[in-house]
Amino acid sequence: MSLRLAITGATGRMPQQVVAIAEERGHEVLPVSRVSERIDGFDAYPANNLAAVLADQRPDGLVDFTAPEGSVDYAAACAEAGVPAVVGTTGFSDEQFESLRRASERTPVLHAPNFSRGVAVLTDLTERATRMLPDHDVELTETHHREKRDAPSGTANALLDAIEGARDPERHGAHADGERVHGREGVAPRRDGDVGVHARRAGDIRGEHEVLFAGDDETLTLTHRAGSRRVFAAGALDAAEWLVGRDAGWYDFAEVLE
Ligand SMILES: NC(=O)c1ccc[n+]([C@@H]2O[C@H](COP(=O)([O-])OP(=O)(O)OC[C@H]3O[C@@H](n4cnc5c(N)ncnc54)[C@H](OP(=O)(O)O)[C@@H]3O)[C@@H](O)[C@H]2O)c1
Repeated sequence: MSLRLAITGATGRMPQQVVAIAEERGHEVLPVSRVSERIDGFDAYPANNLAAVLADQRPDGLVDFTAPEGSVDYAAACAEAGVPAVVGTTGFSDEQFESLRRASERTPVLHAPNFSRGVAVLTDLTERATRMLPDHDVELTETHHREKRDAPSGTANALLDAIEGARDPERHGAHADGERVHGREGVAPRRDGDVGVHARRAGDIRGEHEVLFAGDDETLTLTHRAGSRRVFAAGALDAAEWLVGRDAGWYDFAEVLE
């Protein structure tokens, strides 16, 4: 199936990967950018007039990896034009996330903080390990390139949600009431059930997530490492191919994988 796909943030790292893989798959790409002049040999459609671009060009879908404030505006334009939107941006405030969800009342919107299949499996295994190791302490570490804006990563937040959702107050006892502790400094002993969250920023690391389960006599570590941005771009395009033609609504990546 060949699609016409608008891709926002066309000068960005992730959007450029999405453009490259979309073209490899035979899709027609409409790059959209806040920078209006020619980018690497192609003309981009103006992001500040996205609603008109969508009305005029009628793409089958839009793929967005930009920044929360941009994604909210772009999703609103998609809602107005009835264009399905795949959103990979992370770092939304609650209010921004609510705006994104509102757009899904009028058009299909699929958001995922991580479009890698391996991370979907990591999330599943993390839920299982949380259920099966109720007395183990849990600590989460994520590592990303030096330019990443938000911390902890959207994937780390999704893993924390998975851990908290898998805790059963009856089985986990005092462990069920722990809090997210972002880094530790000074006198900061671990409290029962806390989940330590550690965000490292260095070099051009594409994305690493490690969940540590530690008991008195054993440790279990679940780790995912992204080798390149291609894995996220390919997952986002799988999502776009799946989303086109669906009813307005809110979708997630697990539905694509299933
Ligand atoms: N879900 C996943 O699997 C996944 C994987 C990797 C990254 N991400 C997320 O994807 C997002 C982009 O990451 P990246 O590494 O590609 O960043 P990037 O290299 O900075 O590219 C983002 C592009 O978005 C546009 N942009 C930046 N700020 C904007 C704003 N305020 N409003 C509108 N557009 C804006 C810019 O393009 P123009 O100036 O050309 O418009 C920029 O080049 C981040 O939120 C990151 O965490 C998600």
